[in-house]
This record gives sequence, C-alpha cells and structure tokens, in this order.
Amino acid sequence: MSTAELIAPLHAEMTAWRRDIHAHPELGFEESRTAAFVARQLESFGIEVQRGVGRTGVVGTLRAGAGAHSVGLRADMDALPIAEANTFAHRSQHAGVMHACGHDGHTAMLLGAARYLAQTRRFSGVVHFIFQPAEEGLGGARAMVDDGLFERFPCQAIFGMHNRPSLEVGRFAVRAGPMMAGGAFFDIHVTGKGAHGARPETSVDAALAAAQIAVSLQSIVARNVAPVDTAVLSVTRIHAGDAYNVIPQTAALGGTVRAFSREVMALVQAAMRRVARGTAEAYGASAEVDFRELFAPTVNDAAEAEFAARICTELVGTANVDRQPPLIMASEDFSYMLERVPGCYINIGNGVGVGGCEVHNPAYDFNDAALPLGAAFFARLVEARLAASA
Ligand code: NI
Repeated sequence: MSTAELIAPLHAEMTAWRRDIHAHPELGFEESRTAAFVARQLESFGIEVQRGVGRTGVVGTLRAGAGAHSVGLRADMDALPIAEANTFAHRSQHAGVMHACGHDGHTAMLLGAARYLAQTRRFSGVVHFIFQPAEEGLGGARAMVDDGLFERFPCQAIFGMHNRPSLEVGRFAVRAGPMMAGGAFFDIHVTGKGAHGARPETSVDAALAAAQIAVSLQSIVARNVAPVDTAVLSVTRIHAGDAYNVIPQTAALGGTVRAFSREVMALVQAAMRRVARGTAEAYGASAEVDFRELFAPTVNDAAEAEFAARICTELVGTANVDRQPPLIMASEDFSYMLERVPGCYINIGNGVGVGGCEVHNPAYDFNDAALPLGAAFFARLVEARLAASA
C-alpha cells in the first residue's frame, strides 16, 4: 500500500488531536499543555522524547535500520492573542487566545507522520520531530537553536510546512531561494530643545525633525535598494508633544522593515542610521536609531526545494504543485533553522472555504481536510530521503 493509503485511516485521530489543541490554545513559551500532549503522543508511538528544548519545545527521535542519515521535520505549536469569533464546538476555551495561524494543524500533521513512521519504519536512518514554541514573533526557533538543537539532534536537512488559505486543499506551493521576508522593527529617538510654542527661535523643534525624517526615510527603498530587490520600510508610529503651546523637546518614530536577504536588510539599516542622523542634524537636533532584526529571511536551499517539490508532485501531481508562488512579505522564524541547516519550507493549501479567510483573522480555522496530505508529505519525504536500500 502507498504511504497516503496507509495514512488515510489516521485522519479521524489527527482531526481529534487538531481540535483538542485548537480548543486549548497557548501563547508562545506558555505551551505547557500542548507540549505535554505532544510528548505523551510521541511516547505512545514508541518514540524517544526530549522535553524542554528551547523552554517549551519538544523533540522526538525515531531510528530505523542502520542508516546514518538524518532528517529534521518541524511544526510550530503556539497560538495568538486574538479573541476567537468562531462558534463551533472546538472553539478556543481560553479567552483572548486562539489558533488563528493553523499551528494546531501543523502540530497534528507532524504527529500523524510520526505515528505512521513509528508503525511502518519503511526507512533507514534517523528522524527528528521538532515541535517548536513561540513562532509568532517571540523567537522560539532561535531559543531551540540556542539550546543546542542541531548539536543534540543533528539533521542533514530540515523541512517545515505552513498552511496557506486561498490555496486549494490538495495543492502545495514551494519555491527555491527566498520564500518569505526577513523582518525588523526600529525606533528612532529625536532630541531637540523644548520651548514655548510662540517662540520657535529659542527651540530646536524635535517634531519638525521627526516629520522630516519620516519623509526622508522613504527615499531609502526608492533610491538605495536596487529595483530588482524588494524591501518595505513603513513608519507606523510617530509620537511627539503633549500640549498646544509647547514645542516638544523629543520625538519618537517607529516602524518595520522587510527584505528578502540579509544584505538588503543591512543596507536599509545603514541608510536609516545615516538619514535619521543627518536629517536631525540639519535641523540642529540629534537622532538615535534602535534597529532590531527579529526574523531572518526564509530562504530555501535550491536542491532541497527540488526534492520537496518532487515529493509534493508524487502525492498530488505536477498540476497541483505551484513552483512559482508569490514572495510573501510576512516573516517566519523557521528561517533561523534554515540558516543553520539546509532545507525547505513549503505551503500546503488550506482551501478557499473553511479557513479560507486569512491567517491571524478571528474567524480563521485550520482545514482538517488537509491533515492526511500534510502528514503524507512529511512521511514520504522521510521514506524517500532515508530510503532503506540507500
Ligand atoms: Ni503561522
């Protein structure tokens, strides 16, 4: 029987796991119930488990045969601080917290693959099932890497998967090279000299300097980043002053930058420091820039992307594998793992009906119809990569 045929009977069980996790969402680094659930399931399949990797992360390790090769498969477990608008039976039981990004589904698909692989063991080598915490901007992948993830659980290649609403169930999207942007947040503190609102000649107007900085920053993407590269610089906060008759002494701007390479991100950062300081100085003020890179760009290894696409094609056929999906300006912290180990991050269709609304929406839900396909992708990938005859 094919892998997909053998996984099909696990659909009901994966759905039950997924809905249980959906009903009990936990924020980043607080995934104690979810992590315990995952660890318990893995142990019940006969898989060796390490808890507390990167605080609330869990790693399961499965060996079969004498093969020396190893593969890492990663799912994320955290939920978001969003009040769920759904009314179905498995809606969130935790006020103000919900699985609005489908990480409940990612966890259930990887558990399904683990169960199947532990049962069938049609491979020779080592698989590490990596359940990471805190993907939503809190640095869970980095926490696991810093906790020695790849020293303790060496992987020659690593794979991750995220659902994509608006892509039909039964379809995958995968591309070589950049897939999702890297992200940074910045704050710029401008200092001038406060004065009476009617006596500008005695002031150094921090509000004016900040306003000019906000305008000048827009020249960076337009004039410094090469047109064939892509970047976004958005000033999303400008704060200055408290009174009508006071010229403020200080002002603050903040915002976000997105780019598809470390080089472009570094270029934008350097230009931002130059423009902010130089513009402030032009007005007699000073500016300090705090630039924080939160996410690395998600960049797929060309060979591993080809391999992942081959597995997808085997499962759903060429016509259902999008090899040129659009670049995504949002970020993903699996990127930190991809910077350490070559691998690939793919998208699986979540459908246009159920869960068809975008992720991070209060009416979102992972589409359970995608569970067996996602599990089959992980399972087939292991069987092909760690072929028993190799
Ligand atoms: Ni997500």
